[in-house]
Amino acid sequence: MSATEMNGKELSKKIRTELAGEVLQLKQNGVTPHLTVIIVGDDPASQSYVRGKEKASAEVGMSSDIIALPSSTSEQDLLGQIDRLNKHDSVHGILVQLPLPDHINEQHVIESISPEKDVDGFHPVNIGKMMTGNSTFLPCTPYGIITMLKAHDVRMEGKHVVVAGRSNIVGKPVGQLLLNENATVTYCHSKTENLTDYTKEADILILAMGRANVIRGEHVKNGAVIVDVGINRLEDGTLTGDADFASTAAKASKITPVPRGVGPMTITMLLKNTIKAARGLSAVGK
Ligand code: GUN
Repeated sequence: MSATEMNGKELSKKIRTELAGEVLQLKQNGVTPHLTVIIVGDDPASQSYVRGKEKASAEVGMSSDIIALPSSTSEQDLLGQIDRLNKHDSVHGILVQLPLPDHINEQHVIESISPEKDVDGFHPVNIGKMMTGNSTFLPCTPYGIITMLKAHDVRMEGKHVVVAGRSNIVGKPVGQLLLNENATVTYCHSKTENLTDYTKEADILILAMGRANVIRGEHVKNGAVIVDVGINRLEDGTLTGDADFASTAAKASKITPVPRGVGPMTITMLLKNTIKAARGLSAVGK
């Protein structure tokens, strides 16, 4: 088999055009969806992600701002900023770029964001709603993955999904969302013995380990659907996923490329969540 590419850049373009229409409508009702992104420190990768979010917001007609704080910022100061934004009526979505410097407790920060403005879907209230299958903000990367699978008519019900990676941002929630779609889910992680015994059994394989090219053609089932969330930079500067693209694409039925795969979908879902947050406010007439 030779795989069809699930191109997240193309699908994002289509969805962002629809979102631009929704933003226009909200603006006509006097509400401009607004996202505030907080970044602490000067990690170049985080800075680049944050700029991407700002650019994408502008593309669909939303407004956004970035609050850049020095790495010496205290937890108390950061919580103070979030408290101010929670109370600010024209700020609909708040995103604190992770990771944070070691002296700041990430969980304290996540829990300080008002669940109604938590467009990352990381607040325990929103995670609880997601787990019980209730409407909420879904974490952006898992939401992007499910949206992509649906757009490509991938049947999830009854299928064996293997998730490799158990981060709070990707692995854990994507497994939960697939369970909500009636898939049978197996989680693997860094302590899993004989990882490839599991990957070989996957109808749908979600790779979120951050280990360049470790899954090769002989580790996947014929006709599998592969979603590669890994973004690994090789010594020569090129980006690659957790899957060795050539050998896995030769066996899979569908596969996401890296880059232009899951990455653009994450930002698109962030825009979608922010528009949803803005709607919540407009609904109560603020
Ligand atoms: N760092 C890496 N991915 C993410 C994400 O989805 N949200 C936030 N806030 N930080 C991240």
